[in-house]
Amino acid sequence: MPTKRPPIWLMRQAGRYLPEYREIRKTAGMFLDLCYTPELAAEVTLQPIRRYGFDAAIIFSDILVIPDALGQPVSFKEGVGPVLEAIKAVDELNSLDQGKLCDHLNPVYEAIQQVRKDLPIETALIGFAGAPWTVATYMVEGGSSRDFANTKRWAFSAPQEFGKLIDILVASITKHLIAQVGAGADALQIFDSWAGMLPETAFDQWCVEPILRIVSGVKEKHPDVPIIVFPRLAGHRYLKIAAIEGVSAVSLDQTVSLDWVQENLQKKVAIQGNLDPIYLLAGGEAMRSEANRILKSLSGGPFIFNLGHGVLPPTPLDNVAELCEIVSGWQG
Ligand code: CP3
Repeated sequence: MPTKRPPIWLMRQAGRYLPEYREIRKTAGMFLDLCYTPELAAEVTLQPIRRYGFDAAIIFSDILVIPDALGQPVSFKEGVGPVLEAIKAVDELNSLDQGKLCDHLNPVYEAIQQVRKDLPIETALIGFAGAPWTVATYMVEGGSSRDFANTKRWAFSAPQEFGKLIDILVASITKHLIAQVGAGADALQIFDSWAGMLPETAFDQWCVEPILRIVSGVKEKHPDVPIIVFPRLAGHRYLKIAAIEGVSAVSLDQTVSLDWVQENLQKKVAIQGNLDPIYLLAGGEAMRSEANRILKSLSGGPFIFNLGHGVLPPTPLDNVAELCEIVSGWQG
């Protein structure tokens, strides 16, 4: 009997590789203005669904709306990425204000309501947030970083101080995720893009523990909402994330061995992933054989086809269409 084909969506499926996104992006002003204008955020969320018919939409927003909503303004500079005024001392945490969080983020909830109305009934809508560790790196480094030296030094040398920032983020992210489900999100994904940068004890303390607190807080309000966690580059420590009560699926980066996943991870949780975005960019036989290898390895158990990280801006549109055909034509 043919295996039912797995669902597919792609991280960063809305974005600069789509001409219709670039068109709206030109008129929207700053990147965060696009995120905070519900009609436009809803429109760009729907664009990849219209073009490719993915099985899930992810609400168009960013993980850095959290510091922005807490009063640490975020801007995005062309060719540079996110820019924030770096937090340098514990007393600066006093100026982070959780009081206005949900008001500030209300446009995200309005966009979710709009998308849920316009989305085909069979298409899932995913809400999301960054995990505390990853969001904290941007707040402490003042933007992207190569080695996270400032954040790690603070976390290692003054864990009680750093823990205060993590506590603020756990509370804020929990509220933000709960509000997204309230607005109509069917599932949630937590992005811990820099999880793999932490050594063992710190991984438990700053990745596992905060995510566990968030998942349990969300589940108190919404016990049935599926939660996907993406602890990028966590290696064998994916096991620790999969062991968190309430985590339904883990999203794999492209470095994880699929034999190991079948054996150790897929029995416990659903798997999402893990095509290297460069295969999608390269296309052709390389992409076809790698997509087929992943399908063969993982479609015997609970599995959602996705990338190991986000779609890259120079990705050709036809490659994405071909990938969708490969997955939808999969017969086991
Ligand atoms: O997946 C989607 O389609 C939903 C939208 C989404 C965006 N960012 C839109 C975006 C999601 C889920 C994110 C998550 C995000 N944002 C992460 C976690 C996932 C990852 O990539 O590791 C991180 C670390 C960020 C922070 C961030 N936002 C950076 C570092 C940058 C600059 C780099 C870049 O690609 O320009 C962004 C900007 C951003 N977020 C863009 C998009 C479409 C590009 C902005 C533009 O259009 O000019």
